Amino acid sequence: MAANLRPLFLAIISLLTISCLIRSSEGSVAGIYWGRSSREANLSEICTNSTYEIVVIASLKFVGYQAVLELDHHCDPSINGSCAFLGAQIESCQSKGIKVFVSLDGRPDFCSRDVQYVAEHIWNNFLGGQSDSRPFGDAVVDGIDFHIQSGSNRYLDALAETLSKYSTTDKKVYLSAAPRCRIPDYYLGTAIKKGLFDYVWVQFFEEPSCDYSSGNITNLSISWEEWHSYVPDNTALFLGLTGISGVEGYIKCRDLRNVVIPYVEQYSKYGGLMVLEGTTYCGHYDEIIRPYVKL
Ligand SMILES: *[C@@H]1O[C@H](CO)[C@@H](O)[C@H](O)[C@H]1NC(C)=O
Ligand SMILES: *[C@@H]1O[C@H](CO)[C@@H](O)[C@H](O)[C@H]1NC(C)=O
Ligand SMILES: *[C@@H]1O[C@H](CO)[C@@H](O)[C@H](O)[C@H]1NC(C)=O
Ligand SMILES: *[C@@H]1O[C@H](CO)[C@@H](O)[C@H](O)[C@H]1NC(C)=O
Ligand SMILES: *[C@@H]1O[C@H](CO)[C@@H](O)[C@H](O)[C@H]1NC(C)=O
Repeated sequence: MAANLRPLFLAIISLLTISCLIRSSEGSVAGIYWGRSSREANLSEICTNSTYEIVVIASLKFVGYQAVLELDHHCDPSINGSCAFLGAQIESCQSKGIKVFVSLDGRPDFCSRDVQYVAEHIWNNFLGGQSDSRPFGDAVVDGIDFHIQSGSNRYLDALAETLSKYSTTDKKVYLSAAPRCRIPDYYLGTAIKKGLFDYVWVQFFEEPSCDYSSGNITNLSISWEEWHSYVPDNTALFLGLTGISGVEGYIKCRDLRNVVIPYVEQYSKYGGLMVLEGTTYCGHYDEIIRPYVKL
């Protein structure tokens, strides 16, 4: 290369490097968990405000290999038809472009031959399959979330893999994970490493070594960077938040907007925000945070 072109060449290379690292946050989304509180708005209301593009219904609770829907504050899934009204609300959310997931939690404990049974149960009752006991009727949710923090970790990756095989070119089955922030996550680490999840919303609270604390972003940023190198390229990394102001690691709106979002959104795998607990973020989540999530 001619010596006088070298500076130009270097400038182009560094521009390319920067544009790979700093991605516009276009496409980043906000989500919220729904279903665990008597004080939360109903599902249609949440979707009508269109603050969130992902709503995760919590939860489908494992006891061993049985996954039982629990929505105590909204309906009684043990009574046929009790939760059917949510089917219409799910479809109404989807018609506004909002994805609706069902979250798995509780204490799973199954052996290899249970994997197919569990996957079929989820497929038949919440996804594209058929059953005479579908809690949400004909409504088909967009994805399944793994929010497993107790029980056994065995075959959770096999379950995610089996569920992922239900995806077709016509209808994708999204998979997400909600790990705690220490790497590797005991329950979900293997499946995350295999690239089985489209979205991983890491819990950045209740773990001081990972949290934003009294205006200090150091621990969050160290942990965020570890996660960013850890997740595969096809996985979108979300900042998992608590919406409950008393919880350790809670980030005030102003700091979220001025400090934390500008930091995380520089990273190429940044996917958005997920409110993992609490019924809203900061009360005015809409006006304050929204513009910084979807530009
Ligand atoms: C949910 O909220 C909407 C809007 O406020 C209201 O019209 C509807 O009746 C509510 N549905 C239920 C089941 O509470
Ligand atoms: C929806 O937006 C209105 C107006 O901004 C607000 O008063 C209401 O609390 C919001 N509802 C939810 C569930 O966020
Ligand atoms: C539940 O209700 C639906 C609709 O009425 C009906 O088709 C189905 O057979 C019922 N399922 C059971 C297990 O009773
Ligand atoms: C950061 O994490 C370390 C443990 O890794 C902890 O000792 C320290 O107090 C944390 N810093 C803040 C500001 O919370
Ligand atoms: C922020 O937290 C880190 C990790 O605990 C600590 O080393 C650093 O001194 C803190 N910075 C300030 C300004 O307190």
